[in-house]
Amino acid sequence: RDFTIAIDGPAASGKSSTARAVALELGFGYIDSGSIYRCATLLALRHDITDISAGAPDLIDLINKASVDIKFQPQSTRSAPNLITGRLPVPDVRILLNDEDVSEEIRKPDVNRLVAKVASDGGVRSAVLGIQRALARAAETRSKSVVGKEGVSSVPGGVVMDGRDIGTTIFPNAELKIYLDASAMARAIRRWDEMNSSLKRAKPPAVPATAENTPAEYPSVEDIARELEERDYADINRQHSPLRIAKDAIVIDNTSMTFEQQVYSIADLARD
Ligand code: C5P
Repeated sequence: RDFTIAIDGPAASGKSSTARAVALELGFGYIDSGSIYRCATLLALRHDITDISAGAPDLIDLINKASVDIKFQPQSTRSAPNLITGRLPVPDVRILLNDEDVSEEIRKPDVNRLVAKVASDGGVRSAVLGIQRALARAAETRSKSVVGKEGVSSVPGGVVMDGRDIGTTIFPNAELKIYLDASAMARAIRRWDEMNSSLKRAKPPAVPATAENTPAEYPSVEDIARELEERDYADINRQHSPLRIAKDAIVIDNTSMTFEQQVYSIADLARD
């Protein structure tokens, strides 16, 4: 059996960048499980299915018929020296929904607002679970021939998967489970920095951000903090596989850690 690393934690705790950098370091595949819920949410928005309080048979049907692919690109890395990534390379990931590249669209505010609601539906979760496991198996197989820093990675391969319930529900037998956390303010500031550096790469934003000095088209740190809090609340309090720390998970609070410290400590745990 291949090696599985589960990285769970609240919104904007740095799971995705950390998981991708760890996967690159180890020559593993990578699956962003949240992106599949985001694709499901995009399908809901595009088909005007916004009330799923009484179940969502039409949406489940759309998810079952959809193809989702996560293209992890270890050869294409960005290493923008911002608050989130430090200088360690973070590979790009492209998300394809029915062969359309939706990588940017699934990060937009309307998806952010609805995704936790969509993910709280039991039927949606079972439909997504099948996609997650299939993608993880495919990523592991691909990772066996990935060319990493130290040449072609050795067999067996492995996969790093990040989300909310990977260690508790999706891969309860994962060899390594990490629960990544950070203070609410650190998470909001990082997400704000990430949004601004991608939207405004050429012109660094004014720091610190407040509701007053943030341009109207960008959410303020306060707006982001509020949205993260609402999403965490929904993820922790939902009925189906809520966000929990798996009992055999190692908790890493990265509030005052560098990105490199996190990545190397997880990679070292995997090698032990
Ligand atoms: O990780 P990301 O912020 O992209 O996840 C978006 C949303 O998808 C989460 O807020 C959560 O509601 C849902 N999700 C989940 N289980 C996962 C991954 C994500 O319920 N394993």
